[in-house]
Amino acid sequence: MALFAALISVLACSPVSEPHQSNAYQAGAPGIGDADFPTDGNGGYDVSHYGLAIDYTPATKHLQGVTTVQASATEGLSSFNLDLAGLRVREVSVDGSSATFTHKGNELTVTPAAPIDKQDRFTVKVVYDGTPQPAKDSANLGTYGFIPTADGAFVASEPNGSKTWFPSNDHPADKATFDFAITVPAGVTALANGELTGRPTTTDGKTTFNWSERHPMATYLATATVGKFQLRQGASPGGIPTVAAVDPKFASVLDKLYTESGRITDYWSTVFGPYPFSSTGGVVDDYSAGYALENQTKPLYGGFDPDEMIMAHELAHQWFGDSLSIKRWKDLWLNEGFATYSEWLWSEHMGKRTADEIFKTVHARPAGDPIWSYPPGQAKPGDLFNESVYTRGAMALHALRKAIGDPTFFKLLKTWTARHRYGNVTTKDFVDLSEQLSGKNLDPLFDAWLFQPHRPA
Ligand code: ARG
Ligand code: ZN
Repeated sequence: MALFAALISVLACSPVSEPHQSNAYQAGAPGIGDADFPTDGNGGYDVSHYGLAIDYTPATKHLQGVTTVQASATEGLSSFNLDLAGLRVREVSVDGSSATFTHKGNELTVTPAAPIDKQDRFTVKVVYDGTPQPAKDSANLGTYGFIPTADGAFVASEPNGSKTWFPSNDHPADKATFDFAITVPAGVTALANGELTGRPTTTDGKTTFNWSERHPMATYLATATVGKFQLRQGASPGGIPTVAAVDPKFASVLDKLYTESGRITDYWSTVFGPYPFSSTGGVVDDYSAGYALENQTKPLYGGFDPDEMIMAHELAHQWFGDSLSIKRWKDLWLNEGFATYSEWLWSEHMGKRTADEIFKTVHARPAGDPIWSYPPGQAKPGDLFNESVYTRGAMALHALRKAIGDPTFFKLLKTWTARHRYGNVTTKDFVDLSEQLSGKNLDPLFDAWLFQPHRPA
């Protein structure tokens, strides 16, 4: 040990070491800095826009992709990484010049012909193809990412499955706008986030759908769900453009999905503040995922007829999770606790059980119930979507509501969504705002509800 340390200090003082360069270039880190997911996302740059051109053939499960990433460097870069799982990279260019690359595991390392200066904007183009392999998780994530189905693909990528279909900075801490050009066999529909930018065009038996999401979006919320779909388009009573789509197997659900998605989005706009995006809606595909996902503007329901509660949950996520995104996965209760509490608010609004009644029922669970030993304020990477993150997270909000009173609580919800609209948030941000608006020290309350491994009194 001592010898090793001495050797290091000799090397550090060595006169042959390089002089310090003020405009140094380095390799961008292979992770964005989320300790629980060390290789998710990447260091050294910030993405502003993804342009995804995807050609997908359901019969062969073959995907051809051209992804264009517009980014700016946050440090001088000799090389940088993108996240990509499987697939074959054919060609990479940076600002139009061919770049060298290696693709090992989930890391695509790109070395541009010339290094990139700190703060410079640059554009990366990646040409790739292959059969997407969805992520399969033995814990509680199930199958996610780009999932081939009988007639297309079910695309739900939370938490880190975007890398199964496009090269990205795959972490919610780096949000960007998206354009999609999705080409599929004629007769098949491709659904992505945001709105169609024109009529789909068909040539040589293939149809291209152009969608655009003009508001910042986390990579896991991007979708390119493909298949036979029946569509209903229009607007909610409050005037929010609405798109509902169902697999023909769920034809009888289309009108309810359309009507309720619009009605619920309108109601949440009165409770949480203005709807953050340009359209709302939902998609029911014939794939039994065992979950739904709050894909931005188009929640996706995996092979079941969604009831009002789950629609209320996924649409509440448009504010909590989508407009306001977490910076670290450990703060997942800011998504799931809020969306679950929204279910309770919806129940109350519908004249069914009140939030207080639901809270009391859960609180009556025995001391040995697993939600009491899992503190929801620190979601565990191996058990991210634990029920505690949802239910005990919701209970934390109800405890807060009781402590600060309804007027302050509902003002807090609107202030929270307004202040951090399209941004990233942490638990500390929420605690600070709660204390600021209520004028109370709420540390003991949040500590008991979010961080203690036992049932709060
Ligand atoms: N955010 C989703 C919801 O509660 C759950 C996503 C679960 N993801 C997964 N890979 N199972 O609405
Ligand atoms: Zn949720």
